[in-house]
Amino acid sequence: MLTNRDTQVLQDPHRPAFHFLPEKHWMNDPNGLIQWKGQYHMFYQYNPHGAFHGTIHWGHAISRDLVHWEYLPIALAPTPDGVDKDGCWSGCAVNNNGAPTLLYTGVYPQVQCIATSSDDLLTWQKHPHPVIAAPPPEIEVHTGGEIRDPFVWKEKDQWYMLLGSRIEGAGGLILLYRSEDLLHWEYLHPLLTGDANQMEPFWTGTMWECPNFIDFGEKRTLIISVQEHPAKPLFAAYFTGRYEEERLMPETQDILVHGNYFYAPQVMRAADERYIMWGWIQEGRNHHQSLAAGWNGVMSLPIHISLLADGKLRLEPVEELKALRQEHYHFENLHITPEAGLPLDIQSDSLEIEIQFPADLKTEAGLILRASLDGQDQTRIIYEPAAQQLVIHRSNPGPEVDIDNQSAPLTLAPGEPLSLRIFLDHSVLEIFANHRTCLVSRIYPSHESSHHMALFTQHNPLIIPRLDIWNLKDIWE
Ligand code: FRU
Repeated sequence: MLTNRDTQVLQDPHRPAFHFLPEKHWMNDPNGLIQWKGQYHMFYQYNPHGAFHGTIHWGHAISRDLVHWEYLPIALAPTPDGVDKDGCWSGCAVNNNGAPTLLYTGVYPQVQCIATSSDDLLTWQKHPHPVIAAPPPEIEVHTGGEIRDPFVWKEKDQWYMLLGSRIEGAGGLILLYRSEDLLHWEYLHPLLTGDANQMEPFWTGTMWECPNFIDFGEKRTLIISVQEHPAKPLFAAYFTGRYEEERLMPETQDILVHGNYFYAPQVMRAADERYIMWGWIQEGRNHHQSLAAGWNGVMSLPIHISLLADGKLRLEPVEELKALRQEHYHFENLHITPEAGLPLDIQSDSLEIEIQFPADLKTEAGLILRASLDGQDQTRIIYEPAAQQLVIHRSNPGPEVDIDNQSAPLTLAPGEPLSLRIFLDHSVLEIFANHRTCLVSRIYPSHESSHHMALFTQHNPLIIPRLDIWNLKDIWE
C-alpha cells in the first residue's frame, strides 16, 4: 500500500517517467549488470533508509526488453559485524559455469567480497571471508586504503579482476589481478596508471573508480570514473588501445559523457553481443531539496556503445527505446528567423526529439525546451559553430538548483549536418549528437506549466530539413 510519503515522491513533477529509478530513497551506481535466462538484471547502489548516500545495499530489478523494469527484493544488505557492515559498494556479476556470482566491495576498510545465488539471482549467499582483504603490499601505503569496484572477466580459462585505486599525490590507478577460481587472487600489476600532473586532453584526477574493460577485438577500451578530490564535479572517461602483456597501451582518450551528472557507468555484454551501458545520473538540486523530495538519483537510458575507426566510442540509445514512442509529430523544411524563432505547439515533459540542422551552419541555433510563456524559465540547447560545441543554458528563476552552463565539444566535418537525438524526461535531459557525443543534464523548471518549445537561430534565417517529435510512454504504467 502506498503511504502519503510515497504518493508525494510519485507526484514530484521532476520525477522521471521512462528512466529506471527506485520507488524512493537514494540510488547511485549501476552494479552487476547481467543477462540471465533471457532477462536483464540490474543491481544498483541503494540506501533503503533515505534519499542520501549511506547504508549502501544492492537494489535489484529485472527487465525483458531493457525498457520496462520490475523491482525485486534487495539483493545484498550489509551484514552487522561483517566485512561489509558499513556498506555493499559497487561491483559486478559473472556466470561461473552456471553459478551466478557477485563480486563487490565491502567497507570499511575496503575489501573485495563474493556472493553466489542458487535461485536465479533472487537471494545471495555471501562467502564468509573477503577474497581480497587488503591492497597489494607493495603499494598499500600509497592507496590510502582506496581499492574498490571489482570488474571481472574470463579469458583463456583464467579469471581477471580490475580494481579502482590511486597512488596518493600521483594519480588514479587500475589494478589487475588473476585467479583460477574467483576465490584466490594474485595481484599482477597496474593495467593503467594515471598522471594527475597531465592536463591535456583533460585532467584525469586523483582517484579512479568503477573500471570496465571492453574487448573490441584488436582494441580494448577501459572506462573509468574520475574522482577529483576534493573538488566536484565527477565524470567518466575512457582509454582505447592495444592490450599487450596484460597492460593497456592507450592510443586514444576522451570524456565518455559530458555534463557532470553522468557517473560510474557499467557496461553489460548482452547475449546478442551488444555492449550496453548505464550510468548513474546525479541530481542538480541540493541535498536538502532531495531529502525533502524523498528520492535522489536516476539511471541513464541504456546506451549501446561501439568502437569508431578513430578509437573513439559511438554512443547510441538502444533500439528497444523506440517501443516508448506514442504520438508522432513530423515536420519538414521549417523556416526560422532570428526575429521570430519558431514556437512548436507540443507541450509535454516526456519527449524524444530528432532534429537535423542544415550542413555547414554558420549561426548559433538550437531548441528551447521547458519554457514558461514569459521565457523566464527555459532551457536552451545551442550549437555554437565558431566554438564547435554543443551547449546547454538553463535558466530557472525558482529555488536554488544547478544552472551552470554545460558544454560538449562537437566538431562537424565539412558537409556533415548537425543531428540531435534528445530525450527529455521531466528533470532528465540526454542529448546524443551525431552518434558520437553525449551530453546529459538536469533541469528543474519552477513552474509545472513551463512546457513550451521552440526552435531558434541567432543571426541568419535557417531552414530545418527535418524534425520528429514523439511523446514517450511512462515505463511503470
Ligand atoms: C562511485 C562509488 C564507487 C563506490 C560506490 C559507493 O560512485 O564511489 O567507487 O563503490 O560509489 O556507493
